[in-house]
Amino acid sequence: MMSDTLCKHIAIIMDGNGRWAKKRGMPRTFGHKKGAENVVNITRAMKESGVKYLTLYAFSTENWQRSQDEVTALMQLLRDYLDKEFKEIMENNVRIVFIGERDMLAEDIQQKIKTVEAESAGNTDLTLCIALSYGSRQEILCAAKKAMTLALEKKISPNDLSVEMFSSLLYTKDIPNPDILIRTSGEQRISNYLLWQLAYTELFFTNTMWPDFGKDELLDIIEKFNTRERRYGKN
Ligand code: IPE
Ligand code: IPE
Ligand code: MG
Repeated sequence: MMSDTLCKHIAIIMDGNGRWAKKRGMPRTFGHKKGAENVVNITRAMKESGVKYLTLYAFSTENWQRSQDEVTALMQLLRDYLDKEFKEIMENNVRIVFIGERDMLAEDIQQKIKTVEAESAGNTDLTLCIALSYGSRQEILCAAKKAMTLALEKKISPNDLSVEMFSSLLYTKDIPNPDILIRTSGEQRISNYLLWQLAYTELFFTNTMWPDFGKDELLDIIEKFNTRERRYGKN
């Protein structure tokens, strides 16, 4: 048990499902299936860590450009996840929220998302934020448009726009900035994830492919985070 960490929020780029499957001579979608199973595993592990927020990059705006078959398989896995895991989510007092461009999603998925968000809204042990059809530049643009609209409607003047106000126009308005970012699979890039919110986040890159990323490695990263000195530009 490590419930004494200062870490409030872990964001993860769950990468490497395709390569994990390829190495085993299996189709990419098999890797995604294992990856989805690992979401359940890591969500359970988070409960033990004492960290209150977990944001998972499940599908990016750019991932819509993958093959039709892969996109369809990923969306089906999401449906299955929501159907199968809803009971455990409620039992474990987990609140689920989604960030991203919902209009791009199939109607039934939009409906499911709305339902699980509403039904889990009162849960308090862990907030699981799923970035789905999410792109950070798109999110920032959307916030900028909202700010411009407020200004044109004379509800704010341009000088009123502060870091705090801008943050409140993002999808993540109710969620603290991540303390830890983890990217699996050895890639060291951000891939349009939480660009604004990661300004002072501690970064951790691991070569482990997402389906193999387990509780021990997660707890190890939290321990390493606990020893890092965060300076926020001060001396
Ligand atoms: C991450 O695994 C899952 C999604 C992006 C949906 P990838 O599918 O990107 O796996 P690799 O990077 O090709 O191995
Ligand atoms: C980022 O992974 C998106 C998700 C994990 C959902 P990608 O595999 O899509 O990113 P790139 O293409 O390697 O930058
Ligand atoms: Mg990838």
